[in-house]
Amino acid sequence: MHKTSEWLLSFTSDGQPRSSSQAQVLTKKFQPCFKIAITGGKGGVGKTSIALKTALEMARSGFRTLLIDCDSNLSNTAIKLGLPLDNKFEKLLSSEISFEECVIQRGNLHLLPACNGSNEIFDSKLNFDQIITDIISSHEHEYDYILLDCPAGISRETLTLNAYCDYRFVVVTPDKSSITDSYSLIKVLSQKFAIKNNHLLVNMSQNDKQLQKVVTTLTETVKNFLGVRTHFLGSIPKLDVSGEEFDTFFLSETKSAWHKNFVKLLYEFTEKSGGLLAAHESGRNQMALEHDVH
Ligand SMILES: Nc1ncnc2c1ncn2[C@@H]1O[C@H](COP(=O)(O)OP(=O)(O)OP(=O)(O)O)[C@@H](O)[C@H]1O
Ligand SMILES: [Mg+2]
Repeated sequence: MHKTSEWLLSFTSDGQPRSSSQAQVLTKKFQPCFKIAITGGKGGVGKTSIALKTALEMARSGFRTLLIDCDSNLSNTAIKLGLPLDNKFEKLLSSEISFEECVIQRGNLHLLPACNGSNEIFDSKLNFDQIITDIISSHEHEYDYILLDCPAGISRETLTLNAYCDYRFVVVTPDKSSITDSYSLIKVLSQKFAIKNNHLLVNMSQNDKQLQKVVTTLTETVKNFLGVRTHFLGSIPKLDVSGEEFDTFFLSETKSAWHKNFVKLLYEFTEKSGGLLAAHESGRNQMALEHDVH
């Protein structure tokens, strides 16, 4: 296993790769834990909702799943699950508590929430990307999938985390500014971190024509201008539910076509990524969630 600090050091200060070793790390054929960044550049496109739903479904399928909230001081994962906010993450950073004490465990799903309006986090001089990559390298042997719920924006810290992951689910809505922001994210990832592959997840699509336009526009533009490949993961139709009911509906396991569509796109991904095969081999895929999060 490579050391995280070595990986971070493989980039120069302007983000250029120093050697081909980083590319080798990112393209290794087999690994026991797949790391996925749920990202997208634009705010409010559904990154946190999708990261949570993905984590819940992976856990329900028997995968040992860790979701790390990377929105360090505007953490939304716990609140969307109806869990209390406690800013325990501050204490993890100051080594007052352990990772196990900070993580919320619900059967196969483990959640590491971050903070909400913490002055300590605001004042902290720590590099958040290094903290997260160190946590991952210490615990990845315990999980089949580690998901990162990324904040909006294309800060160096966020993009370093994106590049560190094996996969990036770029969440885009049909909104023009979402497409523009995701292009910017893919561009900087390509030019500063040599990332040439991403997955595209179109959220809040309202019809096939609109969906096709988003997929073609983004896929063709990043291919022609950046030489980057986009793997279309699927689309999540826009839900017509009120704000208050949104989280419950989005995250619940229901018999709806909408839920089945989400599970199908995830199943196709896990099958392709080899995770499903790995879980079959270890007999874990039949395990059920011990407790439901709701
Ligand atoms: N498929 C959908 N159908 C309808 N509304 C949606 C859908 N996905 C997301 N939303 C709406 O978008 C809101 C924002 O979602 P979410 O918090 O997951 O986005 P985000 O990208 O994580 O935001 P931020 O950038 O602030 O972290 C949700 O509360 C919901 O109202
Ligand atoms: Mg979010």
